[in-house]
Amino acid sequence: MKHRRVLRAAVTIAVTGALATGMTMVLTTGASAGTTLGAAAAEKGRYFGAAVAVNKLSTSAYTTILNREFNSVVAENEMKWASNEPQQGVFNHSSGDRLVSHAQANGMSVRGHTLLWHAQQPGWAQGMSGSALRNAAINHVTQVASHYRGKIHSWDVVNEAFADGGSGGRRDSNLQRTGNDWIEAAFRAARAADPGAKLCYNDYNTDGINAKSTGIYNMVRDFKSRGVPIDCVGFQSHLGTSLASDYQANLQRFADLGVDVQITELDVMTGGNQANIFGAVTRACLAVSRCTGITTWGVRDCDSWRGSDNALLFDCNGNKKAAYTNVLNALNAGPGIPTTPPTTTPPPTDPPPTTPPPTTGGCSASVSLNSWNGGFVASVKVTAGSAGTNGWNVSVTLPSGASVTNTWSATASGSSGTVRFASVDYNSRLTAGQVAEFGFQGTGSGAGMTPTCTAS
Ligand code: G3I
Repeated sequence: MKHRRVLRAAVTIAVTGALATGMTMVLTTGASAGTTLGAAAAEKGRYFGAAVAVNKLSTSAYTTILNREFNSVVAENEMKWASNEPQQGVFNHSSGDRLVSHAQANGMSVRGHTLLWHAQQPGWAQGMSGSALRNAAINHVTQVASHYRGKIHSWDVVNEAFADGGSGGRRDSNLQRTGNDWIEAAFRAARAADPGAKLCYNDYNTDGINAKSTGIYNMVRDFKSRGVPIDCVGFQSHLGTSLASDYQANLQRFADLGVDVQITELDVMTGGNQANIFGAVTRACLAVSRCTGITTWGVRDCDSWRGSDNALLFDCNGNKKAAYTNVLNALNAGPGIPTTPPTTTPPPTDPPPTTPPPTTGGCSASVSLNSWNGGFVASVKVTAGSAGTNGWNVSVTLPSGASVTNTWSATASGSSGTVRFASVDYNSRLTAGQVAEFGFQGTGSGAGMTPTCTAS
C-alpha cells in the first residue's frame, strides 16, 4: 500500500510538473488515462459494467459509485423469468424498466439477463413440459425481447445450459427435455423480436479450455455454420484464488469463430491473489479485440451474492480496493479495439428468406421460419417497392390446424386461415427499397406459408 501511495504521488508530481511547464504527457497508449472504470474502458472501445440490484438504486452511497464508475448495467435478478412473467402471459417489467431508465438517464448501456435459464423459472413454468413448455418459453423470449426492443446492448438469450464435469454436453433441465433445438429456437425468436441486440450464450466454469467450454465452443461453431443468429458468448468468470493460464486463449478461440466475447459476471475470491486476478482478466479481455466489455457481478463487496468472499472492486464502505486499481491500470495500459472493429460488421447469420425482395412498385414480403414440434416463430421482412409506402398489409394463409398466438411490430386480423398483418405507426412509411420487419408466433406447423404484400 505504502509503495503504491509513493508511486501515485510520483505520478501526480510528474503530471503536475508537465502541465505547469506546458509539456505534452504521452501515455503508453497514446490516449489520455481514464480516471474511472467506465471512462478508461470507453477509451479502449469497451464498456465496464456492474450487476445492479434494482432496489438499491434508491441508496445514494450505491448509486454514487455506480454512476461515477460504470457505463453499463445488468439486472442481477429483475429480468429473469420468475421476476417478469410471474403468471403465464402476465408480464411485469416495472423493475427492469426502472433499471433501463436509470441507464438511459446516465448514459449507460444495458445487458439483458436472461431470457431462458433452468433456474429462477416461475412456478408455473417449472411444472410444464413438452410443447406446452416450449411454446411458453419461446413466447417469453419474444415478449420480453420485444418489450425491450432497441434498448438492450446484449441479451443473455440462454444461460447455463451446459453441464459441469467432463461430459461437455448439455445440462438436464425441463427446457432441455423439450428437445435439443431449444437453444437455437430461443436465439431465432430473440433475433426476430429485437434485431438490434447482440445475442449471447452465457455460462460459468468456462474460464479456460476445458470440457465444458469446448462443448459450448462446438455449439457456437455449429450455430455459425448453420446460420443460427448468435453474436456473442458471455464468460461469467466467478473466480477463485487462481486464473487458468489459458483464460485469454479460450476467449480468443471463441472470437476466432466470429462472435464477440464478454466477461459477464466477474467476481474473485478475496485473498492475496484477488487484485492480480482482476488485473489479469482485464488484460486478457483487452488483448482480444472482440472482447467488448467487462461486467462485475455487483458494486460493493456487501452487495455480492458471494457474501464473505469480498469478491468485488469496492469494499462495503464504497472504498476502492487494490483490485480496483489493478483493473483501472490494466484498462489504461491496454490496447484499444481497432478503428474498424470486426464487431461492427458481423457476417449475416439469419437463414435466407423464402422469397427474394422486389425491385419495383408496391411491396413484397418474405418469411423465414423457426419451427419446432408443435409451434413456430415466423419473421417477416417487408420490402417497399420503387414508390415507397404509406402503409402496408401482409396476408398469410396458415396451414390447416395452425394459429397465430401473438404478433409483434404489426397488427393481426384473425388468427387462423388467412391472417392479415397491418403495419403499425412506426413502420408504415417506408422509402423505396426500405425494409420493415415484423413477426408472429404460432402453434401447429407454419410450413409452406407464402406472404403477399400490398402497399398504400
Ligand atoms: O427477493 C427475495 C426476497 O423477497 C425474499 O425475502 C428472499 C428470501 O430468500 O429472497 C429474495 O430473492 C433472492 C434473490 O436472489 C434476490 O436477493 C433469491 O432467494 C435468491 O435465490 C436470488 O439469488 C440470485 C441467484 O442468481 C439466483 O440463482 C442472486 O441474487 C444472483 O446474484 C444470482 O446471479 C447468478 C446469475 O443470474 C447467473 N450466474 C450465476 C450468478 C450467481 O449465482
